[in-house]
Amino acid sequence: MRSGVGVGDNGAMQPVVRSGEPARAAEAGALGVVRAALLDQSGLVRAVASGRRRGGEAPAYQRVEVRYVDLKGQRHLQITEFDERQAHTRNIAGAEPDVAGAEPAVGGAEPAVGGAEPAVGGAEPAVGGAEPAVGGAEPAVGGAEPAVAATELEKVVDGLLELPYGSWHVETTSETLRLRYTKKGKELLHRQDDSREQETGHDRVKQRMLDPAAPFLIELGISDHLGRVKPSRQAKYKQIEEFCKLLAPALDEAISAGRIAKDRPLQVVDLGCGNAYLTLAAYHLLSAAGHDVRMTGIDHNPAARKRNARVVEALGWQDHLRFVDATIQAAELDVRPDVVLALHACDTATDDALARAVGWEAPLVLAAPCCHHDIQKQLKSVTPPAPYALMTRYGIVRERFADVLTDSLRAAVLRQFGYRVEVVQFVDSQHTPRNLLLRAARTGAKPTAELQAEYDALVAEWQVNPRLAQLLLPAAEVGL
Ligand SMILES: C[S@@+](CC[C@H](N)C(=O)[O-])C[C@H]1O[C@@H](n2cnc3c(N)ncnc32)[C@H](O)[C@@H]1O
Repeated sequence: MRSGVGVGDNGAMQPVVRSGEPARAAEAGALGVVRAALLDQSGLVRAVASGRRRGGEAPAYQRVEVRYVDLKGQRHLQITEFDERQAHTRNIAGAEPDVAGAEPAVGGAEPAVGGAEPAVGGAEPAVGGAEPAVGGAEPAVGGAEPAVAATELEKVVDGLLELPYGSWHVETTSETLRLRYTKKGKELLHRQDDSREQETGHDRVKQRMLDPAAPFLIELGISDHLGRVKPSRQAKYKQIEEFCKLLAPALDEAISAGRIAKDRPLQVVDLGCGNAYLTLAAYHLLSAAGHDVRMTGIDHNPAARKRNARVVEALGWQDHLRFVDATIQAAELDVRPDVVLALHACDTATDDALARAVGWEAPLVLAAPCCHHDIQKQLKSVTPPAPYALMTRYGIVRERFADVLTDSLRAAVLRQFGYRVEVVQFVDSQHTPRNLLLRAARTGAKPTAELQAEYDALVAEWQVNPRLAQLLLPAAEVGL
């Protein structure tokens, strides 16, 4: 079993000094190992490049995910690039025709929506428009590409490897590779034996992640007794399904990075759990993914606690799931949570949830805020800094601006506590207008003076004192 072994197989992280070398020449060494894994059409499960190299330019996309899919009987490398708002997918034909078990051809281009993996850097579906190709590949036309020679695939992969991402996380059927660049631009490769299945179905993510007929959905009243989502519950169903799509890869990443231990039960807490829709969905999906989950739902609604307890009893899940009737602020846990969830905890209850997560040093936090009244109220009595008076003059505009300000400040506060924060749309607005998600991974990075100064300047300019700062930065004073 290889674990924590670098390129040199000597049991330690191996720095492979290749600073400045073009990726194309990288047949050996760390980048060569990653390249070979990306080109392995029957071994690659998925790979993600993200971050930026210190001192380098930011890549055009925040992250890129690749995996193989079978389209029209041929294996293709599917490349999904995420910008601030959405995913852009293109498929490059590989060299393996007539792949065993390949999906039959679908008429025309592959539907690009849902072609995206559960998005990490932006949860919007991929759009089917033509995308500029990286590394000299042909422009994608709505998904499926005309077959091109294998060398084209290599060119595309080399093009991806040349992009100035700070790290590559590669999962194959037999190992996990993590390549990162040090401050000096050196490559460090970490390899670990692993075992997982490759899935190349092109419609994999069109299938629902949560089977509407899952007994817990019926028990919760989301689905009817025939296992169909009730029309009135469609929005909640989509919210929890899409939320969980963002949870799964973030958890995988936290585990691979060693921030969450694999050898003990996974502790998850859902703050402001209400009727436990997300609580049970997350429990169900994480358990199905092989995690030994201990889930706690917290809400200050005693009726909800009783109802939820009955539901889990009916499902036989009571040994691993419990509900506590308490406020988020005061709830006591026996064990520190690995993952903190909060879906639409009202107003400043989201701040309370984030503050508890920080206090528990939770490695992973996913919070989708609800209404934001706190900053909105504060803005009413503020004289806006010039020339922004128009942004608070009209009620609806002030409300939306307060949303943006609140979540920007939340992200900034979390960053000051050593969290890497992504702010993404987790579900289409037709399913809820409250569709923004803060996803925070605790890296322990020390806050920089710039970060602090940026935050201080924003709160001072708008003369606001956000609830999260009041909870976590007791010294925070903005001279109101
Ligand atoms: C809009 S509901 C969302 C429920 C659930 N998360 C969902 O998405 O279905 C908000 C829930 O947060 C709970 N809540 C609000 N503030 C709270 C607090 N300070 N402590 C505990 N629960 C709270 C409410 O009782 C309610 O059940």
